[in-house]
Amino acid sequence: MLKKKSDQYDLHLIIHDDLVELYDRKLNTSISIDFLSGALAHRHQFGGGRGQAIAKAIGLKSGSNPTVLDTTAGLAGDAFVLATLGCTVTMIERSTILFMLIEDALERASLNEAFEPINKQGFTAINRDANDYISEQLLTDNTAPDVIYIDPMYPDRKKSALVKKDMQILQRLHGEEDNAAELLDNALKFAKKRVVVKRPVNAETLGEKKPNTCIKSKKTRYDIYTIEKM
Ligand SMILES: C[S@@+](CC[C@H](N)C(=O)[O-])C[C@H]1O[C@@H](n2cnc3c(N)ncnc32)[C@H](O)[C@@H]1O
Repeated sequence: MLKKKSDQYDLHLIIHDDLVELYDRKLNTSISIDFLSGALAHRHQFGGGRGQAIAKAIGLKSGSNPTVLDTTAGLAGDAFVLATLGCTVTMIERSTILFMLIEDALERASLNEAFEPINKQGFTAINRDANDYISEQLLTDNTAPDVIYIDPMYPDRKKSALVKKDMQILQRLHGEEDNAAELLDNALKFAKKRVVVKRPVNAETLGEKKPNTCIKSKKTRYDIYTIEKM
């Protein structure tokens, strides 16, 4: 077992033989990602399928499974929902620590037959800043996804004492400047069909850019920017 301490955040990345987890000493809790059991599997089974707001937001219709670039993968929850609904999903996460959790979850899940269809259809992760990734792709461009998904850290979430523990840990990791408005600009240049931005239901729009439409659920709003390319 390898223990690596981050002085800055008081977080410990613990690498076991068969699991990578992140321990938060302050909260006395640890997180890891598991696609096959727990909250993510429960959401897969009971989450409302193609009728749920996120599915409508990315434009899932019968017979159409868009390719999705999730530029803010985090704990891969939203990306996994989209993968279970039939989308080919590429996740981008700039935090190396979170990327290691995602990679570990992908590796463990791949050992299980039940994960084969998702693997086949494409569910992968890249450890980069999404702005850098998109800028580079724009220069070569034959890999544009149908949909780009953005779920930035919302500043108010940082203040809330009510956010879930896993989100609090994400917030503790989130030391860098949030470049979400720049990400929206870049995404609009790159996506083939639409860009979807997840926001708290009453939040202002990202970079004050007006979406074409939005889909709301109880706490969340998905701002949809449709692409009109000549
Ligand atoms: C609110 S969380 C996303 C949660 C995610 N949708 C989920 O279901 O777990 C935002 C994540 O995006 C990452 N992030 C923010 N800006 C990024 C960028 N420019 N490139 C890559 N990752 C970014 C942060 O490190 C953080 O993990």
